[in-house]
Amino acid sequence: MSKTKTSYFCQNCGAESVKWQGKCPSCNEWNTLVEEIVTKTSKTGFTRSSADGKNAKAIPIGEIGQQEQSRLAIYDGELSRVLGGGIVPGSLVLFGGEPGIGKSTLMLQLALMLKGFKVIYVSGEESEQQIRMRAERIGITNEQCFILTETNTQNILQQLQQLQAGLVIIDSIQTLHTSTIESSPGSVSQVRECAAELLRYAKESGTPVFIIGHITKEGSLAGPKVLEHMVDTVLQFEGDRNHVYRLLRTTKNRFGSTNELGIYEMQGNGLREVRNPSEILITQRESATSGVAIAASMEGNRPLLIETQALVSSAAYGTPQRSSTGYDLRRLNMLLAVLEKRCGFRLGIKDVFLNIAGGIKVEDPGIDLALVCAILSSNEEIPLSQHITFAGEVGLTGEIRPVTRIEQRIAEAEKLGFKKIYISAYNKKGMNASSHSIEVVSVSKMEDLFQKLFS
Ligand code: TYD
Ligand code: MG
Repeated sequence: MSKTKTSYFCQNCGAESVKWQGKCPSCNEWNTLVEEIVTKTSKTGFTRSSADGKNAKAIPIGEIGQQEQSRLAIYDGELSRVLGGGIVPGSLVLFGGEPGIGKSTLMLQLALMLKGFKVIYVSGEESEQQIRMRAERIGITNEQCFILTETNTQNILQQLQQLQAGLVIIDSIQTLHTSTIESSPGSVSQVRECAAELLRYAKESGTPVFIIGHITKEGSLAGPKVLEHMVDTVLQFEGDRNHVYRLLRTTKNRFGSTNELGIYEMQGNGLREVRNPSEILITQRESATSGVAIAASMEGNRPLLIETQALVSSAAYGTPQRSSTGYDLRRLNMLLAVLEKRCGFRLGIKDVFLNIAGGIKVEDPGIDLALVCAILSSNEEIPLSQHITFAGEVGLTGEIRPVTRIEQRIAEAEKLGFKKIYISAYNKKGMNASSHSIEVVSVSKMEDLFQKLFS
């Protein structure tokens, strides 16, 4: 029997250390080293060394045979686009998201929708019956979809070899354990070794493998960062669990752009692709209401018209409150300071609440202008027309700064029937505004915009 040996692993970067230290010497994070049992029977690590005696030789890049990598076409248009156009054979994809967001649902849906080859869904979290029930809820039947409830990677790999599946889904990496290491499932060394074994399988057999991974409270994928380095693609599933919309993003993609965005709606029978997100994110109202402005925003490569809502009221209690949903609170405070200092609005004594409709989180600075207009509209109690939209960033001096991909934003607004779009004067330079049926108004300062809108 091998002697039990322990080692300390950083939960953040996965670095190994022989003794405990307060600070990880490799990533400088504090209190991240945790003792784990390791019994090394084989060498760990994910390097693909040629242990079989064949030494790899360097060859000129031009002489490498161009092997047409035919991607697996999938029926899920959103996922396909986010992956860069289908699934690359032999790729390892890490799929992360908070608990209950719908990771298992999306992956099972993918497994059920694929036709023509075997798909194996390995679950260490749910029983066969539970998965069956979920599949019934989704309402798709597929004879070629196999379910395996197993957590030992050696057994899983054996089954995979037997089944010769065309796609493998692992739910989730934190429940797996390998017999080569003794520490408990979910620990850094286990997660890393299991992922390394799956990586080896994917590359050797050419089978694409999807791994579901949990997310920690801080929002990063639980388990070491090395996991993200090992895989080819990292997908993130985000959204507010209490809302129906879910956003699918890539934070890393070796086979495509990381700018793509997929949007889903959680329904009673699974996740439905949302093809026209802008139309859903804007509430159709009978009459205009104050405190609402529409932003022509971009999420990655995708133009999105988003409704921003603000409520400004006199502070009922001593300290005014600022609260924001779906938008960075610090940035809101900055915008309020700009309005106070540069434009003379006394918002310091007011409560300000902000909300991005649909429960989505926006990081695009181009949404600033709409937010400021929503705040002013609520403050002045003057509704804005429902047919206007905004795209611009607000700078510290109250200037309206240009935003990226302005043409795409304008085109989307035009498509949705907006009559007018306010953009930065810098964006308008060199643009052929007459080619649009929508009126493009350029503004350079907050004061000008205020004059144009509210007087
Ligand atoms: P799940 O896929 O289990 O999340 P994860 O694997 O990321 O933890 O999704 C769980 C939620 O999805 C659950 O709260 C119920 C909801 N749901 C639906 O609304 N409709 C459905 O058809 C399914 C299968 C789940
Ligand atoms: Mg799950």
